[in-house]
Amino acid sequence: MALVIPLSAFAQGDGPSTLAASEKRAAETVSRMEDAEKTVLTKTMLAVPLMGGSVPEGGVAGAGFAPAIPRLGIPALKETDASLGVAYLMGLRNDGGATALPSGVAMGSTWNPELLYRAGAMIGSEARAKGFNVMLAGGVNLMRDPRNGRTFEYLSEDPLQSGILVGASIAGIQSNHIISTIKHFALNGQETGRFSVDVRVSEAAARESDLLAFQIGIERGQPGSVMCAYNKVLGHKACDNDWLLNTVLKKDWRYKGYVMSDWGAVPGLSTALNGLDQQSGAQIDKAVYFGDMLAKAAKSDPAYAVRLDDMNKRILTAIYANGLDKYPATPGGAIDRKANADIAEEVARQGVVLLRNRGGALPLAAGVKRVAIIGGYADRGVLSGAGSSQVHGDKGPEVIVPKQGGGPVGDFISEQYHESSPLKALRAKLPNATIAYSEGRYISEAVTQAKLADVAIVFATQWASEGFDQPDLSLPSGQDALIAAVAEANPNTIVVLETGGPVMMPWLDKTAAVLAAWYPGARGGEAIASILIGETNPSGRLPLTFPASLDQLPRPVIDGASEVAESFDVMAAQDSKLSTNYDVEGSDLGYRWNARRGQKALFPFGFGLSYASFATGDLKVNATSASFTVRNTGKRAGATVGQVYLVSRNGEIKQRLVGFQRVSLEAGAQQKVSVAIDPRLLADWRDGGWSIAADDYAFALGDDAETLGKPVTVRMKAKHWKD
Ligand code: BGC
Repeated sequence: MALVIPLSAFAQGDGPSTLAASEKRAAETVSRMEDAEKTVLTKTMLAVPLMGGSVPEGGVAGAGFAPAIPRLGIPALKETDASLGVAYLMGLRNDGGATALPSGVAMGSTWNPELLYRAGAMIGSEARAKGFNVMLAGGVNLMRDPRNGRTFEYLSEDPLQSGILVGASIAGIQSNHIISTIKHFALNGQETGRFSVDVRVSEAAARESDLLAFQIGIERGQPGSVMCAYNKVLGHKACDNDWLLNTVLKKDWRYKGYVMSDWGAVPGLSTALNGLDQQSGAQIDKAVYFGDMLAKAAKSDPAYAVRLDDMNKRILTAIYANGLDKYPATPGGAIDRKANADIAEEVARQGVVLLRNRGGALPLAAGVKRVAIIGGYADRGVLSGAGSSQVHGDKGPEVIVPKQGGGPVGDFISEQYHESSPLKALRAKLPNATIAYSEGRYISEAVTQAKLADVAIVFATQWASEGFDQPDLSLPSGQDALIAAVAEANPNTIVVLETGGPVMMPWLDKTAAVLAAWYPGARGGEAIASILIGETNPSGRLPLTFPASLDQLPRPVIDGASEVAESFDVMAAQDSKLSTNYDVEGSDLGYRWNARRGQKALFPFGFGLSYASFATGDLKVNATSASFTVRNTGKRAGATVGQVYLVSRNGEIKQRLVGFQRVSLEAGAQQKVSVAIDPRLLADWRDGGWSIAADDYAFALGDDAETLGKPVTVRMKAKHWKD
């Protein structure tokens, strides 16, 4: 069955050819703008009482605000973070909380664009009900390094999967007549030295990987805005990067919306000429460049004058195409909390990945009598990732573990748990079992509890945040020792991982089962319990590689880890000479890197177990599509993800995911699936365009990126084309 994703408002708007019509209307409005009006939309001011910001008249406490221009019927722009829901902002807004989706990597694990569309539509509706009309969502940086502090916010290490999923999420958000961003453009692959690290990469590698994810996401989601990143790319800050913004985005991809900066990412006025259209949270930068300074430059320099009109035209195009003027977002709108939490729970149920299940240890036996739950604040809630994307329900965090010094930034960046206790959920679902809880602080006590129980379930956490990378992939605070000791004491030990991304598992062989539950959102506890007891059949598949060791990574040590003082605080950031070389792996990141090097992962990309079993076969491939069958060979209904990979070209290993489809099947049922193959996935970027060589291309079905079926070889015709 083909995927049917409703088009976003940007593409569909109020009538036919809205984008072209909106652009025309925008140009007409610009022609009526007075000089003073031309620098109203070109900057937003931080709209929180922190870091020099305040909540302006007519604004809502949030990331940014630009006032309305009533004379021209232009609405104020009211911005909020982010991809996982309306950001909580430490409760500053005082309008209750919002529904927290599971983390990006959990959403990636669903491989389900329809669900991400619904999830996007849900968070967009909450943003709108709270009075916001711009959502700083659409995080789609490829997971080049599993230690990246923002891995939890992103979707996948693969450009096709990332692009399809982010496009669906953006389209969902924008279906509420609000603008979504896609971010952080581009190559924002590490947090270490994030404000200044210079990414060195060949154009071909960038076009075939990180940029391709953005390109597909923009095509599918039509975001009104692109947020440029903090880092440098080839020597220039991403928000001051003529090549990225003018050449790639606006010329080659013909992008009609506007580029907004990340907060504190604007180095000067020249960014206007290099493609930036809006300075965000402008008081955080060294100066408000896109106000009076820009107006003055436009008076004396025609290049700035032309750009100023273009900046306004682009912002207005996004406003009109999404109907922000016709459907104003005002605070106090109705929110169906129950329905929205149901969506968050569905994402969690589909996003949890069953990594290990020795002898069918899961689901828990119906008659299980005694269970020991250990660690991870499982008696209180589930972990969430910190930073600008932090979302909470009405009561705010259930648990806060301080992480760094005081002050606003310290409060913001702390380990916070949603009120959704796996312990309570499990007790509700297993009323006849005795379920004990041990904090897990003392190994001896956890071991005693584990010995008394039929099953021990250890909840292990790894907190992550924007602004910092993980130094390695171990579980912090002695949790590896805790798990090893509990597993030693009770062979029926199950580990539930609440992590930002991959971790090492030195205790793996001793455990009975392992679930990757990521940061599972507002109803994470219920979703985990539902999978543990088998009410939900796990169907998540990894959207990134779990490496077997740090040596397997292109950069065993993150560049700058020993030199740059990491910080969340952009105002305290210093410029550095730090650079990182992505040409080590080029476009072959994650599973592609492992394929190239002949390395085996701890758990490969695409991997995930089910309480059912599946068989795929009958692969047929031509230049533009693939078809195959999927059969449920198990005893209960379940879902799997059919994955088609290019595996070699002219006999040389070259692995790329070229198509996928999540399929739900009753026991014994079979389905034929066809997926389109985007020619860019077969091509190399060469001579300013995409090139397919006349070669033999071998394709295979994969249970995951390493478990591949018999290859089918197709001779492709040579082809070269421009974007
Ligand atoms: C983050 C962005 C976010 C912005 C506004 C920045 O620190 O990198 O993702 O949208 O803050 O809060």
